[in-house]
Amino acid sequence: MLMLKEHFSVNALGHLVIGQTDAVELAEKFGTPLYVADEQRIREKYRRFLRAFSARWPDVRVHYALKANSNMAVVKILQTEGAGADVSSEVELRIALKVGIPGNRIVFNGNYKTHRELELSIINDVLINVDSFQELETIDRLARKVGKRARIGFRINPDVKADTHPYIAIGLRESKFGFDVLSGQVMEAYKMAAEMSTVEILGIHANVGSQILDVAPFEEEAEKIMALVSEIKEKLDIDLRFVDFGGGIGIPYKPDDKELHPEQVAEKMVNVVKRCVRENRLKEPTLLFEPGRYIVGDSSVLLARVGYIKERPGMPDWVAVDAGMNALMRPALYGAYHHIELANKMNQKNEFSVNVAGPLCESGDFLGKNRKLPKVEQGDLAVVFDVGAYGLAMSCQHTAQPRPAMVIVNGERVEIVRKRETYDDLTRLDQIPGWLK
Ligand code: LLP
Repeated sequence: MLMLKEHFSVNALGHLVIGQTDAVELAEKFGTPLYVADEQRIREKYRRFLRAFSARWPDVRVHYALKANSNMAVVKILQTEGAGADVSSEVELRIALKVGIPGNRIVFNGNYKTHRELELSIINDVLINVDSFQELETIDRLARKVGKRARIGFRINPDVKADTHPYIAIGLRESKFGFDVLSGQVMEAYKMAAEMSTVEILGIHANVGSQILDVAPFEEEAEKIMALVSEIKEKLDIDLRFVDFGGGIGIPYKPDDKELHPEQVAEKMVNVVKRCVRENRLKEPTLLFEPGRYIVGDSSVLLARVGYIKERPGMPDWVAVDAGMNALMRPALYGAYHHIELANKMNQKNEFSVNVAGPLCESGDFLGKNRKLPKVEQGDLAVVFDVGAYGLAMSCQHTAQPRPAMVIVNGERVEIVRKRETYDDLTRLDQIPGWLK
């Protein structure tokens, strides 16, 4: 049985309650598949993250990573908390600006930034974490064209091994991100930029990976970045104002996953920063963080209706629900575990082994295999936990399935924050060429 997190409970009917709202009622009112996010949970997680670091260092900024969940209501909640943003596409940038996050509280990351994205960033005072020499040259040209200096940092490749899925082990030396440290590329990049009148060198950035539940990679990252900050000061006499440690703190998905608390990470990282600042007589930098999953991951569930049950003698039964890999891609893409229960039978024992599948025509279309649930019947409501990060944000329309709707609950209040897609939405952009009409 799952230990429910604080924002969930079970009512007298044995139904899952999110905030103060009955999940079964939500599914009836808004239909399924349905993403449900808890506003207060997002706020609590943001505050806890910020507090963990700002209790230990005087100048800290939390830039929420929109890639985890760029729903405008979610980003608005974080804007009202005072969060900055980490964006990696034009639309993410425009969402952040639209909900009122000032440009100078936004960082732009990625290994392929279009000219348009770079221009928009320069115009809006966004901090660009430059990822390659060619990007630096492009920024030089575009800043001239725009007639404004670009605010930049460099993304370094920290070469840190973290125990996570290979697709999200972003900080390895062989990964596509950042400037290589060992071969001297980082110093070369800062030197090149120092000679450009078109850029203002403000920062340094790295990201060790994602879904990390161990403190060691973060400490190693801090050591590597701070060594570079010192070297840049010593050799080029540049004081870096922003040290951006990226995101990566994971959340427990499995009932027996251990938790990594931001206080543990903050304690180790800030100690490294303090020591380096003292030993090398550096100016105290502002520390930036770009958490995504930690802030929004456990705020949301996905509700899906059970349609059909198929017995497989000697094997787990197949339970088909109306949310598939298009609605939640993580199980199919990474073999990720998301805990599943029956939201209308929370008080019943999970004693039958089943596989939970979606409606798509692929055998990779499952949400969970070999799971224990109560006796499943048609019309039951499956609930998939911890889908607030990289859930709806990575959903797609495979087999022309409309993407799910999403609601936000705040205590007893509920509002729809993303409409369910319709036939018209899915066909709106297609055209039949004139010669076939
Ligand atoms: N900053 C940068 C530069 C990043 O590349 C990422 C994530 C983050 C921040 C936020 O990381 P977080 O705190 O959420 O771990 N789709 C995958 C996760 C990919 C993460 C990519 N970068 C998943 O579903 O697990």
